[in-house]
Amino acid sequence: MPQLSISWLGLGPATASLWLFLPLAGASCLLAYILTQIYAVYEKSHHLRIFPQPPKRSWLLGHLGLIQSSEEGLLYIQCLVRTFRDVCCWWVGPWQPVIRIFHPDFIKPVLLASASVAPKDPVFYRFLKPWLGDGLLMSTGDKWTLHRHMLTPAFHFNILKSYVKIFNDSTNIMHAKWQRLASQGSARLDMFEHISLMTLDSLQKCVFSFNSNCQEKPSEYIAAILELSALVAKRHQKLHQHVDLLYHLTRDGMRFRKACRLVHDFTDAIIRERRCTLPDQRDDDLLKAKAKAKMLDFIDVLLLSKDEHGKALSDEDIRAEADTVMFGGHDTTASGLSWVLYNLAKHPEYQDRCRQEVRELLRDREPEEIEWDDLSQLPFLTMCMKESLRLYPPVTAISRSCTKDIVLPDGRVIPKGVICRISIFGTHHNPAVWPDPEVYNPFRFEADNAKGRSSLAFIPFSAGPRNCIGQTFAMSEMKVALALTLLRFRILPDSKEPRRQPELILRAEGGLWLWVQPLSPQ
Ligand code: HEM
Repeated sequence: MPQLSISWLGLGPATASLWLFLPLAGASCLLAYILTQIYAVYEKSHHLRIFPQPPKRSWLLGHLGLIQSSEEGLLYIQCLVRTFRDVCCWWVGPWQPVIRIFHPDFIKPVLLASASVAPKDPVFYRFLKPWLGDGLLMSTGDKWTLHRHMLTPAFHFNILKSYVKIFNDSTNIMHAKWQRLASQGSARLDMFEHISLMTLDSLQKCVFSFNSNCQEKPSEYIAAILELSALVAKRHQKLHQHVDLLYHLTRDGMRFRKACRLVHDFTDAIIRERRCTLPDQRDDDLLKAKAKAKMLDFIDVLLLSKDEHGKALSDEDIRAEADTVMFGGHDTTASGLSWVLYNLAKHPEYQDRCRQEVRELLRDREPEEIEWDDLSQLPFLTMCMKESLRLYPPVTAISRSCTKDIVLPDGRVIPKGVICRISIFGTHHNPAVWPDPEVYNPFRFEADNAKGRSSLAFIPFSAGPRNCIGQTFAMSEMKVALALTLLRFRILPDSKEPRRQPELILRAEGGLWLWVQPLSPQ
C-alpha cells in the first residue's frame, strides 16, 4: 500500500500532522454545519406539517414563482384563500418556509405582537434602503421605537388641519389641467399618472413647504422619485438584479444611484437652509412662532423634536424620515384614489349619491373648498372609499419575522424564526369574513353592518405597533380630492377593463384609464 507522505514539502511529522489536521477539522466543521442546517430545516418542516400547503412546483423550487405580480397572481391568491380560509404554508425553494395568513383571528397574534416579537422582515424593503436609509419604514429596534415616538406629533390633527388647504390647492391645479384636456367634452386619462403628481405636489408642500409646480412643468426632484419607485419595483421582478454588486453595474443600478443622489441632495439642501435660519441651534423661537400660526411643515416638526434626554434628531435622521414620508405617502394615496374613482365609474349610482352628499355640504359656499371639519360630514363618500380600499388595497401584503414562537387561536404554533406574510388582499377577499367578497358594496361599512366584524378584517393601513403613521393624512387627502373631483367631473369607465398589478403598491397594467367629463357648475 503506498505510504501517504508529505515529507517532500520539507515538513517534519509534527507539522505535517497539523497540516493534515487543519483541513480535516475544517471539513468536519463544514459537514457538521451542513448537517445541522439540514436537521433544522427537517425539524422546521416537521413542525410546519400542521399547516396545509398548496401543491409545490418541485422539491427544489417549492412554491417559488407560483404567485406572479399580475392579475393571475391575485386570482391565485383568491383561490388560496377560498381553499385554505385562514393560513397556509409556502416554501420559497427547499429551505425557506413562509406562513401566509389571511384571516383576522390568525393575523391578530402576529400583527398585534410587540415590534420586538414580530419585527418587520427586512427582505421585502431591502432595495429601498439606499434611498430611505433608516427611516421609519425600514428601521427596527430601539431606533424605530424612539423615532416613532418623536414623529407621532407630526401627524397630530393640529398639524394635519393646516394641510387641508394644501390638499385643496393641489387638487385644484390637477382639475384645471383636466378642464383644459377635456375642453372637447371629455378626456381619457391615466389616473395613476395624474394623481401621483398631485399627491407628490401636496407632499412636497407639506414636508418641505416647497412649491415645485410639478403638476404644471417637469421637476427633476419629482421625476427622480417616480424613477426610484419604478426601478425598485422592476428590481423585485428581475432575479439577476437582486445581488447588490451586480445591480450597481447595470444601467438601472446607475440610474438608481443617480436619482438617489439627486433626491438626497434636495432634502439635504432644505435641512441645511432651515438650520441656517436657526443660527445657534438653540434658537427655536422661529419654529415656535410658526407652530403658533399653525404653519409647521414636516421638517419643522422634526427639527423641533427632542427625545426624553433633550437630544434632537441628526440631519441624516431627518433626511431619512423626510424621504420615507415622500415615498410612503405618494404612491399609496394615488393608488387608493385611482381605484376609488374606478369603482365609482363602474357604479354610477354610488357616484351620484356621493356627488349629492358633497353638493349639499358645499351648498352656497364660495369658493368651493373642503375644510377640516367637513371631513367628518361625508359619511357615504367615506364608505365608498373604504369599500374601495378593501377590494383594492394599495399595499397588498406585509411581512413579519417571528423572534419567538407565536401561538394561533386554534393552538397551532408558528415556530420562532419563520417568516409570516400577512395578506391584506387575501383577508379583504376572504369569503369567511366578507360575504360575496368580489362585490363592490359600500354599505358593508354602515355602522350596523360592521357590528360583530373583527377590527382586523379591514386593514389597508395595517394594524398594531407598526401600523401606518400617515393614515389620517391619507384619508384626509383622499376625501378632499375625491369630493372636489365628483363635484366638478363625471367619471366614466374605459371600454377596456384594467388588469391589476401588485408591485410595491397595487397598480393597473399600463395605467388606470378612465374618462372625465366636466360638469357645469350647479
Ligand atoms: C392610502 C394610503 C396609504 C396606505 C394604504 C398605507 C399603508 C401602509 C401600510 C400597510 C403600512 C405598514 C407597512 C409594513 O408593515 O410593512 C404603512 C406604513 C407606513 N406608512 Fe403608510 N399608507 C398610506 C399612506 C401613507 C402616508 C400619506 C404616509 C405619510 C405621509 C405614510 C407613511 C407611512 C410610514 C412612515 C410607515 C411606516 C410606519 C412604521 O413602521 O412605524 N403612509 N403604510
